[in-house]
Amino acid sequence: MANSMEAKSRSLQQVRDKVASAHKDCSPAEKLHFYNQWATQYEEDVSVLEYKAPYLAAAALASVCTVNRETKLVLDVACGTGLVSEELQRFGFTLFHGLDGSAGMLEVAKNKELYQELKQCMLGQDPLPFDSDKYDAVLLVGALSDGQVPVSVVFELLRVTKPGGLVCLTTRSNVSNLKYKAELEEVMSAMQSKGHWEQILVQEVEQWEKAVSEKETSSNSDYIPGVIYIYKKHGDL
Ligand SMILES: C[S@@+](CC[C@H](N)C(=O)[O-])C[C@H]1O[C@@H](n2cnc3c(N)ncnc32)[C@H](O)[C@@H]1O
Repeated sequence: MANSMEAKSRSLQQVRDKVASAHKDCSPAEKLHFYNQWATQYEEDVSVLEYKAPYLAAAALASVCTVNRETKLVLDVACGTGLVSEELQRFGFTLFHGLDGSAGMLEVAKNKELYQELKQCMLGQDPLPFDSDKYDAVLLVGALSDGQVPVSVVFELLRVTKPGGLVCLTTRSNVSNLKYKAELEEVMSAMQSKGHWEQILVQEVEQWEKAVSEKETSSNSDYIPGVIYIYKKHGDL
């Protein structure tokens, strides 16, 4: 028993060290290199952190998209290894396009044979390689945070969403991401004031995932909080 608990805590510490290195300041090229070499170990590591964002985002989207899910064309942005679309599939969605900056992550996603289309694109540098008004639902899960995808990407997400379609975003509420989160909320709310979209769901989650360092928690919890937002683009489908 003592040995297995030790093994578990060692492995949690290893994952913490790994993820902490992903959060450190580095160039976009270095970040991609990090994800490329993490790709085959990613799912095992995030399960140690009890990373639930893909399931939570899929459940939130399903709660506001209750009919004909199998006909909805979904774009999974920063899809990584495909966890979000896998969860969406459990809720009855079937049509997935994916996009990520990391060739290594895309390779793992491709092998799942879930996506009808997968593209490599560096968010924040390149426009999304998709037509305007194309998708019924666009999700960006686990990559809207300081040092990853810039806030300005939301304009592109809105552009490729169909009028009346849904945009589902997640971010973390840990201490070092609060400035980014405030900026994201300011931009999303300005887009609502301008009549581009309307917020239809906000879900705060206390135990989003395990903290990678004690500095990241504001209470005595081992977990950091996170949040899911869903917006509906104005106009009829
Ligand atoms: C934490 S993973 C999340 C993956 C997946 N959405 C999930 O929830 O499991 C972050 C993903 O964002 C991608 N990413 C980070 N910054 C990016 C950028 N600027 N452009 C494109 N992809 C990026 C990484 O390659 C990685 O696959």
